[in-house]
Amino acid sequence: MAVPRLVGIAGSFNRPSKTLALVSHIARIASDRHGFATKVYDMLDVGPSLGEATWRKDLDEQAETVVSEIVNADLLIIGSPTYKGSYPGLFKHLIDLIEPHELRAKPIIITATGGGDRHALMVEHQLRPLFGFFMSHTLPTAIYASDRDFVDYTVSSEQLSRRVDEVIGEIDAFFPHSRPALSAAE
Ligand SMILES: Cc1cc2nc3c(=O)[nH]c(=O)nc-3n(C[C@H](O)[C@H](O)[C@H](O)COP(=O)(O)O)c2cc1C
Repeated sequence: MAVPRLVGIAGSFNRPSKTLALVSHIARIASDRHGFATKVYDMLDVGPSLGEATWRKDLDEQAETVVSEIVNADLLIIGSPTYKGSYPGLFKHLIDLIEPHELRAKPIIITATGGGDRHALMVEHQLRPLFGFFMSHTLPTAIYASDRDFVDYTVSSEQLSRRVDEVIGEIDAFFPHSRPALSAAE
């Protein structure tokens, strides 16, 4: 059986990045549990051709590779920094280049980071409806993390770790036959 593919995309241009740290953290735990083939990208990996692309065919090879990995993933982790209460414009532009049917029924873990807690519901009010348009399966637990959940760009709060555990449990239903870590322990 083919190894299921997990792709994470962090909508930040910063390195280091809390969003990238969060997406990578969740991807690591999910992969340990299910043995996914995992790739994680950020907006620097997408590169400069995105800004000038009106259509997907306008992307250079570097950006096309990332879009192609996203649409071919068996599980996506979307991470967005919060900008003015929503996702950054260029991150939305990346998603705009994807055809609606390409994310249909795809399981997606939605996550975001922000400076504080004021915009914690951006995962519910911005990211979930965006992927609702695509008719994706956004998982029930959405993860929002603020500055105080990180130390040196590493996930450090117990509360955040508990929410990550919740969403990790929710992916089991989609991958009932890919749990190498669990079956080894049984
Ligand atoms: C242009 C801009 C707008 C921002 N707007 C918000 C905001 O509305 N709410 C918030 O909580 N944080 C806001 N922030 C803070 C970032 O969301 C926060 O620092 C985020 O974790 C950065 O992610 P990164 O480290 O992955 O780049 C803003 C930051 C920038 C640069």
